[in-house]
Amino acid sequence: MSERVRRGVLIVGHGSRREEANQDVREAARRIGGRGGFELVEAAFLEIARPDIAEGFARLVGRGARHVVVHPYFLSPGRHTRGDIPVEVRAAAERHAGVTYQITEPLNAHRFVIDASVERIREAEGWPTLVEEAAVSTFTSQVARRGVVYLVGAGPGDVGLLTLKARDLLLSCDAVVYDYLVNPEVLGLVSTRAERVYVGKVGGGRQTPQAEINRTLVELAREGRSVVRLKGGDPFLFGRGGEEAEALHAAGVAFEVVPGVSSALAAPAYAGIPLTHRVFSSSVAIVTGTRAEGGPHPGALAGLASAETVVVLMGMSRLGEIAQELIAAGRSPETPAAVVRWGTYEGQQTVTGTLRTIKDEVARAGLRAPAVIVVGEVVSLRGRLNWFEGLSDTVVGNGLFVEREAAAVAAL
Ligand SMILES: C[S@@+](CC[C@H](N)C(=O)[O-])C[C@H]1O[C@@H](n2cnc3c(N)ncnc32)[C@H](O)[C@@H]1O
Repeated sequence: MSERVRRGVLIVGHGSRREEANQDVREAARRIGGRGGFELVEAAFLEIARPDIAEGFARLVGRGARHVVVHPYFLSPGRHTRGDIPVEVRAAAERHAGVTYQITEPLNAHRFVIDASVERIREAEGWPTLVEEAAVSTFTSQVARRGVVYLVGAGPGDVGLLTLKARDLLLSCDAVVYDYLVNPEVLGLVSTRAERVYVGKVGGGRQTPQAEINRTLVELAREGRSVVRLKGGDPFLFGRGGEEAEALHAAGVAFEVVPGVSSALAAPAYAGIPLTHRVFSSSVAIVTGTRAEGGPHPGALAGLASAETVVVLMGMSRLGEIAQELIAAGRSPETPAAVVRWGTYEGQQTVTGTLRTIKDEVARAGLRAPAVIVVGEVVSLRGRLNWFEGLSDTVVGNGLFVEREAAAVAAL
């Protein structure tokens, strides 16, 4: 971008009914402007408070900005910064021809924020270091070895679903290379001395090319570092972990694979949908709804419709077509179907319907990716087995606090 393009900075807070919390965000915007030497800075809010994102964006444009850098300020990492903000900002930008924008990484995952918190806590007298703790843990299974790349599954979101092996490798590695579906809370385990490399989509924009990721892994390992390549869910299920393992093998770099709890299994489970059941289903197919370059055509779904339960990942942009393909392949239009968004996160949302209605139900509820689609009679069990979204003020797994969100309730 040319140096002459005037940039504006939009600091986006969540918005609160407590006015002093909103005031904190405005004050932060003022201080960020001052410290950063940014001439055009505005605060805006995702919900509740004013100005909203569209208004804040318009103010910056009105003050002369032609490129707006949007910074989510302490917004919850999953739903807001990966979902709502990109959508709202895109809509705001579309009202101003020729004005471009960029969304920064969420602050919550920034290593200085994490490091500062760790530093504060560890200032408590006599607290052992993270590595010392890993060494005395009853379950410690592994310390990351130098020159080795570990392809590690981070699980679907709930930090409590991380494996012990993943935890130990994260605690002891020298570098972690992670992408967009990894819950930033998991990164809190990584030592403050370790390098963090983000290779996911930035603000709905550019995805780091696979060749660049492969090169980064090889280079870090050749520098003699112990490297965790951290992926959402399971690294070998639609995670391109296979390609990375091939690249490491070709480069002569040692690697190990640490399976993770896949969203294909966990999101339905947290929505109260068992994928198999003695009465309803004895087979499951897990498929992608999106055609990869040179990969299988989504029409392959037709061949899989005979599985009693079908789980589709990366299918939200083709939900209607997927339902039609399954009907064309012989499934009844009345087959129950569900869509689970941000499965296992506290803001998990689930919408149910049938193959005939699911597209409209999802549109009505405003559900977007990332989501898992489940098709089959097992979906009907959710009526009795929906255990997670009904939890309120309950501690789940590794201290994750769960509170049912109004949006999730409304979507049911
Ligand atoms: C590139 S695939 C990665 C899958 C991952 N390796 C796994 O095993 O879960 C990305 C897709 O996984 C699904 N996904 C991942 N995490 C999810 C979550 N927490 N809730 C719902 N769907 C999720 C969505 O379908 C998303 O488009």
